[in-house]
Amino acid sequence: MPLTGVKIVGVGHHAPARIVTNGDLEQWLDTSDEWITTRTGMKRRHWASPGEATSDLALVAANGALQHAGLQAGDIDCFIVCTVTPDYYFPATACLVAARLGAKDAPAFDVSIACSGFIYGLTVASALVRSGVYGRVMLIGAETLSKILNMEDRATAILFGDGAGAVILETALEDCFLSSELGSDASRPEMLYVRSSGSRRPIDHAALDEKLNLIHMQGREVFKSAVTKMIEATDRALAKANLTKADVTFLIPHQANKRIIDAAAHYLNMPSDKVVTNIHEYGNTAAASIPIALSESVQAGMIKPGNVIVFVAFGGGLSWGAVAWRWAA
Ligand code: ACO
Repeated sequence: MPLTGVKIVGVGHHAPARIVTNGDLEQWLDTSDEWITTRTGMKRRHWASPGEATSDLALVAANGALQHAGLQAGDIDCFIVCTVTPDYYFPATACLVAARLGAKDAPAFDVSIACSGFIYGLTVASALVRSGVYGRVMLIGAETLSKILNMEDRATAILFGDGAGAVILETALEDCFLSSELGSDASRPEMLYVRSSGSRRPIDHAALDEKLNLIHMQGREVFKSAVTKMIEATDRALAKANLTKADVTFLIPHQANKRIIDAAAHYLNMPSDKVVTNIHEYGNTAAASIPIALSESVQAGMIKPGNVIVFVAFGGGLSWGAVAWRWAA
């Protein structure tokens, strides 16, 4: 039994001003608006400008969540940033965000598990609050994937965008966290990885020449696993929470590809009005996509007290997960 419950008291999001349309990509790559739209559902994505880093986006989203919650940075007990595109190897991007918010001495750390980042982060942050370790946690998903795109690989260059979404979790009498289901399988890391930059293959001139420091993905294989694992994770999270699909008000999936979302929604029996999508506007923003979609939905007044939401994601690792959540009364 938890010592306390947890609820979300603030949300915020931000994307860079620079917009890259499918038409823009047509000029740089052998691709077309028609191919991108039918294969992915994407129309635009936001890309950071040269001097703009992940913490810059995270900071704006965090300030938005603080404002929404009516809180100051000093009211937050712990900062977590989910990202695979940190500003630096170290310090953690969460430390940079906390410092820039003026949250002196606050604990801060990153969660690095690609597109599943927000699901893992929400599980960890909820556990910290429910166990009484911290009263308030700022959880941010933030990415600048445009910085690691191989612009000679049309199959990945069109997919990714930049952005950040933030939520503030707070101790509560009611418990909004209903369940979590997480998983990973890195038996074939080459399905989706950045081959060079870590200790396995440090960056050198040869690695740069071969573009090994950029995203590599076996798209078709990843696609198949994504659909299967997102369905399984959702089913298991619902079973753990003693809920059925009919109890779900909204499914907020990671925005990887509209076809993945549609296929998962079909098997989960979720009509399209229950499935939140904004992929046309942002593309795939990895760990940022779910908190951006949540923040937009809350700001649009879609989410009502008592609504049951399932957040579900799949990504690099491979990794996957789902969290069932009841919106606070
Ligand atoms: N424009 C035009 N043609 C293209 C493009 C493009 N941008 N990209 C690929 N093609 C071509 C291919 O070259 C291929 O041509 P060929 O048949 O002559 O060889 C053809 O289109 C089909 O290629 P596929 O890779 O089979 O296309 P698919 O329908 O699988 O779509 C996509 C590719 C969009 C990448 C899809 O596989 C996908 O979305 N995969 C999953 C992505 C995902 O979920 N990633 C996980 C999260 S990301 C993370 O964790 C960081």
